Order: sequence, then C-alpha cells, then structure tokens
Amino acid sequence: MERHIQTLLNRLSYASITMATVTLILLFSQSPSQCTTGPHHPYHIPFPKSSCQSNQRQILTVQKKTQKLHSSSHWRNMVAAHIPYFQTLRSKGFVSNDSNVLCVSAGAGHEVMALMETGVDDVTGVEVIDSPPLVSRADPHDLPFFDGVFDIGFSAHLGESLFPDRFVAELERTLRIGGACILLVEMGEDVGAIRGLFQGSTFVGSENVTLVGSKFMQIIMRKKKFS
Ligand SMILES: *[C@@H]1O[C@H](CO)[C@@H](O)[C@H](O)[C@H]1NC(C)=O
Repeated sequence: MERHIQTLLNRLSYASITMATVTLILLFSQSPSQCTTGPHHPYHIPFPKSSCQSNQRQILTVQKKTQKLHSSSHWRNMVAAHIPYFQTLRSKGFVSNDSNVLCVSAGAGHEVMALMETGVDDVTGVEVIDSPPLVSRADPHDLPFFDGVFDIGFSAHLGESLFPDRFVAELERTLRIGGACILLVEMGEDVGAIRGLFQGSTFVGSENVTLVGSKFMQIIMRKKKFS
C-alpha cells in the first residue's frame, strides 16, 4: 500500500517536471501574444510603441543624437541668429580666424558653432552640463585650463553666476597678455562694478549690442598682466 503511494507520487513528480519544462520551452520560443500598447509619446525619442517592440529598440549613440540635433531647423536658426554678432566682432578686429576663443557657459553650443562658421578654427566651449562635441563640462568658477592660453574669453552669462568675482577671475586667468575678455550683460548692469572685478586688465569699451534679438551691454577688457 505504502509502496503504491510512493510510486504514484514519483510519477506525479515526473509528470509535473515534464509539464513545467515544456511550458518553459514554449514561453521562451514564443513572443507574447498580448502586447500592451504604450502611451503616445509627444517627444522625438524613439520609445517602443508596444511591449513587444522592446527588443527592436534602437540605441542612439551620442554622436547620432548630436547629428540629429544639429540638423534640426531650430538648431540651425539659433546658430544663424548668433552669426551677425560675431561677424561684427570680427569686423572690429576683436576676433579673427586665428583666434583661440573660449566660450564660458556656452549652453548647447550655438555660439561655439556660430564662431566656427564665421571661420574661427579654435573655439572651446564649456558649460556645467556638457553637449559633446562642441561643449565640454567645466565649472566656470574653476576652469580646467592653464593660465594664458586663450586669445579671447567670451561669455553672455556672467549675470547668472553665483560668484561673479570668481567667474571673471577664471576668465581673466586663462587669457594671454593682450587677450580680450568680451562679456555680454543685461542692460542697466553696473559697468563700473563689472570692470572692478578684473584684477589685471584695462577697459577697452562698452556698448549696446543685439544678440539673437535681445539687447545686451557688451563690455570688453584687455588683459595687461598676470595678477
Ligand atoms: C576665414 O575663414 C573663412 C572660412 O574658412 C574663410 O572663408 C575666410 O576667407 C577666412 N578669412 C581670412 C581673413 O583668412
């Protein structure tokens, strides 16, 4: 009697194991028959359209993403809107093709691209969030460059800095002697106070300029010594 039960139980176990194995094989070999459809996504990110599509999802490399961004009409328009300003700087002799330019707080890199398109070969852009390949990540208050390596230091974002004195000191430090620091600040800013942030530069001039449809006060300082 007991042996009978034992044999029965053994058979049941074998049957269960066999069934489980067959089920597993079926599960692996078939794609799910029911797929849930995801919500319609308003952005241009290639989200899978359903749960079945996950294995077909393309992985976009940073390079491809950048190419896509840089070919968008918004990007093109923004770069084009920066060009007249930099052409004016060129015509006044502040920037030339040979200039080695640093753009601090360069955002997504519109100004970097615009400078390159006017013919400047050597443009470096930095921002707290990088946008390769045009803009690398760096703290404007602690620039990762040696002293005296740039001809031009440009920034339109001094006004957003928490430590303007440190921001200016770093820009000034990385300029060569004779190099120019070009700042765009909001209209009505105290030019005298901004000049006072420089330790070893002379005041070249200030004037009202327009960049991408907005009016700014442009302040140019020329470095005369290492402080
Ligand atoms: C500066 O570079 C641009 C673009 O490469 C070129 O068209 C232009 O002739 C250059 N200007 C000078 C003065 O070399």
